[in-house]
Amino acid sequence: MDAVAAELQEIAGQIRQCTLCRLCESRTNAVPGSGNVHADVVFIGEGPGKSEDEQGIPFCGASGRLLDTLLGSIQLSRQDVFITNVVKCRPPANRDPLPDEKDICATTYLDKQLALIQPKLIVTLGRHALGHFIPNLKISEVHGQPKRYRGQIYLALYHPAVALYNGSMRQTLQEDFYNIPRVLKKLAQEER
Ligand code: URA
Ligand code: SF4
Repeated sequence: MDAVAAELQEIAGQIRQCTLCRLCESRTNAVPGSGNVHADVVFIGEGPGKSEDEQGIPFCGASGRLLDTLLGSIQLSRQDVFITNVVKCRPPANRDPLPDEKDICATTYLDKQLALIQPKLIVTLGRHALGHFIPNLKISEVHGQPKRYRGQIYLALYHPAVALYNGSMRQTLQEDFYNIPRVLKKLAQEER
């Protein structure tokens, strides 16, 4: 195991035992995140749902199946990317994570995970993930458009859960997804 993988595993261990916010009281399993620790692209959701809380694996329920399909549409699989969430423990009854929960969890864990992985592109899924990184943007206005902020490239997408039962949202999410390889190609050209 290389140093990055070892440090991420150390953080995952801390997350599984974390009691920094009230979400620890109702969780079954904390969900640290999973995938390729050297990925070019990291996907960031809101927080674990019921299936994720049961299994300790991110996006393993209905939203995750759609995410897998969308990844497949751009010739990627879970093993190629890293997937995690703003908060690592399920909010009770799937309520929105609260501002203090998002702050403490993301600054303690998510920011450190990203500093280790150093992805070329951060894809945010839904408004909570976008809001952690770039304040004051409306997802309805910026979805699908790459944004550079403090030296990092972001692509804001709608959350797959919203697209599950809404055909036009699903179409939008698919079109936005096709921008992922386009952005990566452009970044690779800039590096040369
Ligand atoms: N929704 C999320 O935001 N994250 C998950 O891991 C699963 C569903
Ligand atoms: Fe800790 Fe984050 Fe879970 Fe809160 S949500 S208990 S900060 S791991």
